[in-house]
Amino acid sequence: MYTFRLPQDFLIGTAHSAFQSEGAWDRDGKSMSMMDHYARQFAGKPFPAPPMAAKKAKARLITTDLPNDGCFFYDNYEAYIEDMVKTGQNTFRLSLSWPRIIPTGYGEVNPKGIEYYNKVIDLLIAKGIEPLVDLNHWDLPQCLQDEDGGFRSKKFPEWFEAFAKVCFEAFGDRVKFWSTFNESSVMINTGYCVGRFPPFEASWEGSRLAAHNLMIAHFRAVRLFRQMGLEGKIGAVHAISPVYPADPMDADIGAANRQNQFKFDWYMQPMAEGKYPEELIEACPEIKAAMPENYQEDLDKWFTPMDFVGLNYYYTKRSDYQPDNVLKGRFAEDFYSQPGAKYNPYPAGLMDAVTYVWERYKLPIYITENGIGMEDTHDEEQDCNDDDRITCLREHLRMIVRAIRVGIPVLGYYYWDDADCYEILTGNSHRFGLTWVDHETGRRRWKKSRYYFQKICQTMTVD
Ligand code: NOJ
Repeated sequence: MYTFRLPQDFLIGTAHSAFQSEGAWDRDGKSMSMMDHYARQFAGKPFPAPPMAAKKAKARLITTDLPNDGCFFYDNYEAYIEDMVKTGQNTFRLSLSWPRIIPTGYGEVNPKGIEYYNKVIDLLIAKGIEPLVDLNHWDLPQCLQDEDGGFRSKKFPEWFEAFAKVCFEAFGDRVKFWSTFNESSVMINTGYCVGRFPPFEASWEGSRLAAHNLMIAHFRAVRLFRQMGLEGKIGAVHAISPVYPADPMDADIGAANRQNQFKFDWYMQPMAEGKYPEELIEACPEIKAAMPENYQEDLDKWFTPMDFVGLNYYYTKRSDYQPDNVLKGRFAEDFYSQPGAKYNPYPAGLMDAVTYVWERYKLPIYITENGIGMEDTHDEEQDCNDDDRITCLREHLRMIVRAIRVGIPVLGYYYWDDADCYEILTGNSHRFGLTWVDHETGRRRWKKSRYYFQKICQTMTVD
């Protein structure tokens, strides 16, 4: 009666992204992505202080300790996929590296890039593991950033559609499950608005333009997918971290709502309804003044509905009212804190997130990321008893079963990440993987959590 059983057709597996896992960042014709560029530039040094968060700058300085070799997936993909087979997972989420496929950003295609992804995709399918493929997980070709401001360029939607076309033509006969962008809010708000993330720009105007170009690019890729008559589903992956009011008083409720709209609905609402959250635009004059010209006409022209939404869920936040900043709110202390972890996991927040998204947007949901990043200090000689990660898996998966029971269509779950890989801003110091990786030698070892996850995948039941 109180068993936590997953539906038999539920997709369950692991995830990673190209720039965080592949390594081989300069091999076989690949050019530098924006992420590689900064990882190399700041290897061993603190990232620059965030211009917009000057007061908090000190606390935010984080070191990235290595140039990015990921977890050497490019050279060892067969062994990694073999581990997925042993785990019993039926899906794997990966992203395609744009600078590996089109090193100059637009124009000539690199046959070695296509060949590599063909091998990975074919092997996954041969082993019965359904690939969920992201067209972009933050790794814009650096040359596009240098040429015309990357996401801020008015050419961006065209560049992206051309890249999507190459990918659909090359892999669309076998890949049936696509997403356009990963965590657009994090990429744009953090990279172009608060300047705490590559390319370290801080401007309301620049970031609203970048967000808008991304939105049109998303619609153009979805429209192209439909025009090409490809089979399968296409959606987008969003970060969701519900923000609760610090106190149940009107001012804090308003502040929390604005944070949620800024971080989530700004990206989700246009994709589902063809509109930005106008309430937020009206409430924040600085945002209103920064909006690109004729934005609603553009949305009306390009809007194309998608098939599903992927949610990356790690933590929640609380906000209180603060009259002096643009969103008139600031983050208050979290409900809960987990020492040593990169984020504070709060499994009940997942239920709140999927409830909101389903009630509001009525799209099928996949949890495309969830996990916990810890120091995990063991080495390849010792077992890694990562009990906190097991708790994280158990509690979030139980929450998913509860959500399904009350009728919310959560159709899949991807643990982030398959193996310890490069974490943006913190390098290799926070490990999220189910498999431990020695970043010097590339040696691998299953953590206790991977055995636990294996049992879930094999029985489709959570203990
Ligand atoms: C979300 C991002 O998509 C991924 O790239 C990152 O490593 C994880 N969060 C963990 O921080």
